[in-house]
Amino acid sequence: MGWSLSSCSKGKAEVAFPERVKIVEVGPRDGFQMETAFIPTDLKVKVIDLVAEAGVSKVEATAFVSPEVIPQLGDSHEVMAGIRRRPGIRYTALVPNLKGMERALAAGVDGVRLVVCATETYNQRNVGMSIAQSLEVCGQMLERAEPSGLPVEAVIAVAFGCPFEGEVPEDRVVTLARNFVVQGITELSIADSVGLANPVRIRRLLSRLQEEIPDIELSLHLHDTRGLGLANVLSALELGIGAFDSSIGGLGGCPITQGGTGNISTEDLVNMCHEMGIETGIDLDAIRRASREMERFLDRKLPSHVLAAGTREELFARIAASARS
Ligand code: COA
Ligand code: ZN
Repeated sequence: MGWSLSSCSKGKAEVAFPERVKIVEVGPRDGFQMETAFIPTDLKVKVIDLVAEAGVSKVEATAFVSPEVIPQLGDSHEVMAGIRRRPGIRYTALVPNLKGMERALAAGVDGVRLVVCATETYNQRNVGMSIAQSLEVCGQMLERAEPSGLPVEAVIAVAFGCPFEGEVPEDRVVTLARNFVVQGITELSIADSVGLANPVRIRRLLSRLQEEIPDIELSLHLHDTRGLGLANVLSALELGIGAFDSSIGGLGGCPITQGGTGNISTEDLVNMCHEMGIETGIDLDAIRRASREMERFLDRKLPSHVLAAGTREELFARIAASARS
């Protein structure tokens, strides 16, 4: 066979991608919350420690939500107490309301994420509030966090389409983002919570946000429900977006509807970036060790492509070995 590693050009083409991207590991929150079998606290802690060792700059370690609504994350305080805090890594949590903020502060998180959904139905089902109520509660949470200097980020969920209401007008996302800026938010994650985005929509909405709200640091939270996750990343990279959420093995889903699948997988994202010459600071092997821990516990294969197929070099070596035999 005529395969060789040099047969394809490696590295950056003409498009100027960011030289480095920040990857936020959200598997311990977005991924774990979808699992019905209770993941023992020790295992949650072990997996968070493994991804931290792998070099991610931020881990969304848990959520301080209602244990009635998301029983899997009922041990959030114990998880925060159990992890080995590595210097330079931010261990953050999602919080939906003031009670969550109090609990997160008491647990010693390094930062929190507040969520508002872009449609009334999804917001109501997610947190039992209207969008206006949620924004008001976000203001209260920001006030509560301020004295401690705790970094607070915001998320706009279902920004590219809602399973209940369908199309989400871009104007609404821009207006929500402006609201957050007025409240003092400087980091904003735009979430495709169910996997309804595509590269054209990504380019349209994110370039608009970049133009109209230049003072906010944007990141992208993607679900790979329809296989467009990494294509969406590429579209965002072309705009210079340099921060993405992903989950080990592609764990995750949508707790509000049945249709969504997991986040883009951390392995696949890291691998794509490295092949494109974009730094992540993440050791892929260490990430794969964390995913395999989860595969063992869950007793199923996770959807990550790189976890199954390996890197380009590994795949090449396998093909070369099988061609020789
Ligand atoms: N953490 C722990 N307990 C909480 C809580 C929190 N953040 N917020 C409320 N509660 C408790 C209340 O104290 C109350 O307890 P009690 O019955 O013992 O008095 C009970 O939950 C009901 O309180 P209420 O204010 O009526 O909340 P709710 O039942 O309407 O739930 C949320 C609202 C926001 C807490 C809940 O919908 C939730 O946790 N949503 C998160 C969903 C999520 O994580 N989605 C995925 C990420 S986008
Ligand atoms: Zn998500």
